[in-house]
Amino acid sequence: MKLPVWIGTSWKMTKTIAEARAYIEHIATAELPAGIQPFVIPAHTSLAAARDALPAESPVLLGAQNAHWGPEGAGTGEVSMRMVGDAGARLVEIGHSERRQHHAETDETVALKARAAVDAGLMPLICVGEPVDVHEAGEAIEFVSSQVRAALGRLSSTEVSGVLIAYEPIWAIGEHGRPATPTEVAPVVSELARVAREVSGGVGCRALLYGGSVDEANAADLLLDANTDGLFVGRAAWTPEGFLRLAAIAAEAAGVP
Ligand code: PGA
Repeated sequence: MKLPVWIGTSWKMTKTIAEARAYIEHIATAELPAGIQPFVIPAHTSLAAARDALPAESPVLLGAQNAHWGPEGAGTGEVSMRMVGDAGARLVEIGHSERRQHHAETDETVALKARAAVDAGLMPLICVGEPVDVHEAGEAIEFVSSQVRAALGRLSSTEVSGVLIAYEPIWAIGEHGRPATPTEVAPVVSELARVAREVSGGVGCRALLYGGSVDEANAADLLLDANTDGLFVGRAAWTPEGFLRLAAIAAEAAGVP
């Protein structure tokens, strides 16, 4: 793995502004271990409150769960990359399977959003992952590498080296998900690393993460994989205590004293 080890959470559709503030205040007063890059992705409504609750010297990066690729204007219900940046986002999640499944996100809109994120000075966090039938047919590698090539298609090779990619098999996500085993993750992440190197002129992307039912029991094993540079967590990090315990596990994997 590359250092730092990335450890982050999307709060998805949870937390009021007061709850967001309490969570951020909790992790801001804890001493975060060395060797990790923590990040938190609130809902749009609590992003600015999270930013305001985070001390300037905190290593925690904030992100947005989505933003539109277009400039400001006629986009009822949407927010632009510039707007989420203004509210405190340094990174933006693009192409999460919940958005691909239920909110008409396609490979083409993912690529447009990755382009717009880079143009707005935000780090894209591109999510890819196969459905269960593709997994069972043994075609995960082809499926996700095609998603990644499409997602990066509008970026230059230098820009690709700043991108975060999360492998999140759809069958592993959420309360009905089964966490992927390290053996299932390894070949897919290895191929994603290869594709990222290829399209970035040999450099690779900034970091490759795994997500999908990560918890305190499986995190350390998932981080043993040579190509996995971090974890992207949902439910297990929705409390600040859970987030801090996972941060400690990531720091141990980083091996930084
Ligand atoms: P989960 O969510 O950890 O709750 O399965 C993961 C994700 O959607 O990134």
